[in-house]
Amino acid sequence: MSKKYFFISLITVCTILFSSCSQKEENQITKKDAALSVIFNRKSVRNFIKDRQVSDEDIQMLIKAGMAAPSGKDTRPWQFLIINDRDILDKMAKELPTAKMLAEVPMAIVVCGDTVRSSYWYLDCSAATENILLAAEALDLGAVWTASYPYRDRMATVIKHTNMPAQVLPLVVIPIGYPKGNHSAKDKYDESKIHMNKW
Ligand SMILES: Cc1cc2nc3c(=O)[nH]c(=O)nc-3n(C[C@H](O)[C@H](O)[C@H](O)COP(=O)(O)O)c2cc1C
Repeated sequence: MSKKYFFISLITVCTILFSSCSQKEENQITKKDAALSVIFNRKSVRNFIKDRQVSDEDIQMLIKAGMAAPSGKDTRPWQFLIINDRDILDKMAKELPTAKMLAEVPMAIVVCGDTVRSSYWYLDCSAATENILLAAEALDLGAVWTASYPYRDRMATVIKHTNMPAQVLPLVVIPIGYPKGNHSAKDKYDESKIHMNKW
């Protein structure tokens, strides 16, 4: 190979390597920006467009996000109950004191825990719940954590309407739909809550 061709080949290889590296960097920035934007823009949504349905693909993605959560010893004690029956949603809206928005949404996910599988089911199910809330934000859906556990009366209401087995308890009912009106995330950053090495 002549010197000239050698240098042309070398420059071509370097250009390809450089452009693939900078593309990788660009992809990483996109991934970082996308993930952090979802985290910082998540907010509780309590007003919904009543008749706008959530697609099956989105519901599947929300459940998948829930199942991607970490859990102690990887026990995954969660169960996910999808409710899209108008009658059940309306009854639960009437009976649950802090989940009135169930009357406005087309569906809800109840994140439940298997109390036999793990005595710390509520921790794992909380991680799963946050994942669902973040996925909802990413999908432009509105959602809010409404507490069932540890309130006996609220858990009894959810169990009554859903035939949940005895060893399973509902942690949270998440009403999900398309947001009505403007909602913005709160800025909760607070330096006074940060401690370094010692309190
Ligand atoms: C453990 C827990 C229980 C909650 N229970 C309810 C509830 O029953 N009803 C409700 O409307 N919001 C409930 N929320 C949502 C909080 O009110 C909300 O996260 C808080 O006001 C902060 O607002 P943000 O989610 O928009 O950041 C609950 C949140 C958590 C983490």
